[in-house]
Amino acid sequence: MDDQTSTAVRVRADAEAPSAGRAGPDAAPSPDAEPPRPDPPPVVELAGVDRTYPGRPPVAALRGVDLTVRPGELLAVVGPSGSGKSTLLNIAGTLDRADAGTVRIDGRDLSACSDRRLAAIRAHRIGFVFQQFFLAPGAGALDNVADGLLYTGRPRRERRAAAAETLERVGLGDRAHHRPGELSGGQRQRVAIARALVGDPGLLLTDEPTGALDSATGEAIVELLVDLHRGGTAVVVITHDPQVAAAMPRRVRMRDGRIESDEAVRG
Ligand SMILES: Nc1ncnc2c1ncn2[C@@H]1O[C@H](COP(=O)(O)OP(=O)(O)OP(=O)(O)O)[C@@H](O)[C@H]1O
Ligand SMILES: [Mg+2]
Repeated sequence: MDDQTSTAVRVRADAEAPSAGRAGPDAAPSPDAEPPRPDPPPVVELAGVDRTYPGRPPVAALRGVDLTVRPGELLAVVGPSGSGKSTLLNIAGTLDRADAGTVRIDGRDLSACSDRRLAAIRAHRIGFVFQQFFLAPGAGALDNVADGLLYTGRPRRERRAAAAETLERVGLGDRAHHRPGELSGGQRQRVAIARALVGDPGLLLTDEPTGALDSATGEAIVELLVDLHRGGTAVVVITHDPQVAAAMPRRVRMRDGRIESDEAVRG
């Protein structure tokens, strides 16, 4: 049987390789670098993915979905209620498995991965943000963010130091000890984003991140997501809000479990 520590270490080592190709200051080749590496693989790649929820009648929530997200990309996923957006996010985020088709994260086919392995990939490579924040009400912002590293096995002091840095990054350095009930809606969502980011994932998956916020507050969250994308994190934003979708350089439209259109809007 696989030993848990070695699994986590191996996943981390593998997961670090593609980041060499991500945008950012550390992407520059060192002078003694040997031949250039091939392009990094997509952060997530779905090919022919089906997902049917059993029941009477069964619901075919995804039908033959192909979607590739490259390192550092920013895209909106839009479509009517029930069209399969959250199902797609769950599968891309390894929270759920496809019934058919292939899912790859950083080029690795997930079908052969055990659930424990999937959890390790998720812990190191993927961050999630939801409309309802899901913060621990009794804990301060810092501890909520540090919780994002619980499954990485890093010691508590390190987790809290990384959390403090990430809170600064989302503009909440001065709210580290405020509990969620002492923060505004937009600030709570920033804490949730910091928690998703604290492990420096290559992929941030967000499901209606502005759904519970007024439009000005939502706009500030969108700006933060755009900044993260500029910093090299791939960001997927499910949204019902046309203004949020309009701010994204790529828009994927779903209908009845299929991708109806996938367009790069600009640059
Ligand atoms: N756990 C489940 N069991 C059975 N059916 C489900 C389950 N989850 C979702 N569905 C069905 O699958 C379809 C796709 O659901 P999904 O949540 O992906 O839609 P969505 O596009 O995210 O919708 P919304 O915009 O309302 O959030 C829907 O018809 C839904 O009723
Ligand atoms: Mg949904």
